[in-house]
Amino acid sequence: MTTGADRGPSNRVLYAIIGLLVAGLLLGTGAYLFLSGARPVSLTVGGPFSLIDGDGKPVTDKTWRGKYMLVYFGYTFCPDVCPATLSNVADALDKLGPKADQLQPLFITVDPKRDTPPVVKQYAAAFGPRMIGLTGSPEQIGAAARAYRVYYTEHRTGTGPEDYTMDHSSVLYLMGPDGRFVGPVRADQAGPEIAAALAKLMS
Ligand code: NI
Repeated sequence: MTTGADRGPSNRVLYAIIGLLVAGLLLGTGAYLFLSGARPVSLTVGGPFSLIDGDGKPVTDKTWRGKYMLVYFGYTFCPDVCPATLSNVADALDKLGPKADQLQPLFITVDPKRDTPPVVKQYAAAFGPRMIGLTGSPEQIGAAARAYRVYYTEHRTGTGPEDYTMDHSSVLYLMGPDGRFVGPVRADQAGPEIAAALAKLMS
């Protein structure tokens, strides 16, 4: 009787090549995960941040400890996605009822150049009294966005200094009263769906 492994020299060469390929693939995947810093098991989102509120006062992630935080990154000049998301969040908070008192929605700008404290304050207020707008130095915004794994980049639309839009990822992050990541909430949902998702994550 013969087994697959000892059918002769040509098969042994074949198995050796396959073995090398598999080893190479494993090494490559490991190196990729290592180099990209990816953690396949527990992906952390959020963490310490240091920003400025609409009154120009410094705030940190610890400012709202004891409450859930619903964190969203965007910018006030956003033509569509940000205003739609924030009005759906405002709608969701109304639907949540008393549970909404345990939740602080935060709008963090990715466009600190234009979104000064008074600008984010006025913008957030347009989506109801609960919403808080935050800004900061480009470095502070960059660090907060990195912590939340938010992607954003300037997209030029002309030659003037104001001629740009911001491309940005659009996800709502629910953080627990202890500051830890609870889960993401899809930002492209209507108010009642966001409310249902939040109620589930907060129960
Ligand atoms: Ni936007």
